[in-house]
Amino acid sequence: MSNSGEAELLHTFKGIPFTTRSSPELLKSLDTFDAREDDVLLVSYPKSGTHWLAGVITKLYSTQVTITSPIEFGDISQLEQLNKLSSKRIIPTHLDYNMLPPNFKNKKCKMIYISRNPKDTAVSMFHYYRDNPNLPTVDTWTAFFDLFLKGNVVCGSWFDHFLSWEEHEDEKNILFLFYEDMKKDLPKVVKEITLFLSLNVSDNDIQDICKKSSFSEMKNDTEKENSDPTHTVCALTSNRKLIFRKGAVGDWKNYFTPKQNIKFQEIFNEKMKLSKM
Ligand code: A3P
Repeated sequence: MSNSGEAELLHTFKGIPFTTRSSPELLKSLDTFDAREDDVLLVSYPKSGTHWLAGVITKLYSTQVTITSPIEFGDISQLEQLNKLSSKRIIPTHLDYNMLPPNFKNKKCKMIYISRNPKDTAVSMFHYYRDNPNLPTVDTWTAFFDLFLKGNVVCGSWFDHFLSWEEHEDEKNILFLFYEDMKKDLPKVVKEITLFLSLNVSDNDIQDICKKSSFSEMKNDTEKENSDPTHTVCALTSNRKLIFRKGAVGDWKNYFTPKQNIKFQEIFNEKMKLSKM
């Protein structure tokens, strides 16, 4: 990572790196965030398929819903704006479970956690970092690989994030999804989402929603780009090419050297030894 003033792009809060777009005041005030019982949280570590899930969820609701920007981005005024929204709120977040505003937990709000093979997540994040002026520069995949394994990237360690949520996977208000399952059988996962959210959606409509949520459809949704200034959930870029890059499973094989793969596997086995994954 180059140091040329780029340290200013990140700061650390409760041990986790955030971009300076997440103001410390906002992060501090999350503890008193006013959740509503019908809020739905879309939770993910970055690059795990948040936009894909958000695309599906908006299509599932026939009543008005608002996909907000992630609660942890912006300054304190973000919370006032969220309070003013009259429609049902779908709130994306990359927060670790321990940092989640307690009100969401107390009110048993529905939360959907989407996860993805961390190797593919790392590769996706590498491209995202490389082409994003709001993030520190990474010169090579090798350099990024080390940062990722150390959790020295925005939102911290993939392992810590996943484990903090996995601990709560049996709670009735939390649904765990995997990117790879969505790739394999999207209608099945969408059906699961409708049951979890108690939405009455016909199988025909589910098929239609899945067609409209394919990678190519979402990538080419230029109409959205032109008409909607907040056309990405992501607060760090409005460049759709950074969000809809390849949409594949197993791209890590094009980047990981055999040595990197062994190192990753060793760390994975050690960190995830108590995980069911
Ligand atoms: P790649 O960089 O591997 O292509 P997020 O929305 O959490 O930032 O995740 C972005 C990743 O999800 C990108 O991965 C992107 O291509 C992929 N993605 C977005 N929409 C998708 C879709 N409809 N189908 C499959 N993958 C999708």
